[in-house]
Amino acid sequence: MKPFNIAIDGPAGAGKSTVARRVAEALGFVYVDTGAMYRAVTWNCLERGCDPDEDENVAKLARQCDIRLRPGENGQEVWVNGRNVTEEIRSAEVTSNVSRIAQNREVRELLADMQRRMAAEGGVVMDGRDIGTTVLPDAPVKVFLTASPRARAERRFLELKDKRPSLTVEELEKEIAERDRMDSEREVSPLVQAPDAVRIDSTNLKLEEVIGKILELCRTKVAGEA
Ligand code: CDP
Ligand code: CDP
Repeated sequence: MKPFNIAIDGPAGAGKSTVARRVAEALGFVYVDTGAMYRAVTWNCLERGCDPDEDENVAKLARQCDIRLRPGENGQEVWVNGRNVTEEIRSAEVTSNVSRIAQNREVRELLADMQRRMAAEGGVVMDGRDIGTTVLPDAPVKVFLTASPRARAERRFLELKDKRPSLTVEELEKEIAERDRMDSEREVSPLVQAPDAVRIDSTNLKLEEVIGKILELCRTKVAGEA
């Protein structure tokens, strides 16, 4: 299949990363997790004791941040300035600060430029919040993946219950709702469905069904070009 780009956006816990990784594997494309890049900038900022609300300092630190996404033994690894931070960027502290950092205009411009360079040759499946609207507006396949807030919280709960044993589904649903609110209401490239994106509600779908639907969209695209 001639390489083209696929944009997958949607709210937290909708299944974007899992689905994007599997679609990339099926097509022999490269998976790019843009959320991991915002998390990496957030981790670096907290590590350096920078207040996430100090926009200029956050942007300055982000400019000095060398972020690498590398294939590792257990999936994609995230490195910041030569340090492997794959585990650290998933911490509760990073999660609760990332949407604040993601409102920073300069940080967004910096990361969007990097993301466009990563996709310049095509053959990339990129997931995030603004891929179909801002980063790759010309991507031939765009998906807006969503699910009910409860379903998303339950999925996240299953992933986190061993790491954060005191957490309840209700608390997680609140945490996710707050992050979705900040992501949707921010001024710069908010989380919104691109007009030409195909909406998939995965509340009652199995992973395999979601992946099947996206691969079908890709086949339709290729058939349309033939
Ligand atoms: O996987 P999860 O849904 O927890 O989030 P993520 O994809 O790792 O993204 C973490 C945060 O980064 C989001 O809540 C957004 O605030 C921000 N983000 C963004 O603003 N734009 C993107 N393209 C990707 C992530
Ligand atoms: O990237 P995003 O935050 O949108 O979601 P994720 O990190 O891929 O997490 C979604 C979780 O829900 C994973 O553990 C998936 O196995 C599970 N899941 C799903 O993604 N889609 C379904 N239709 C059912 C379950």
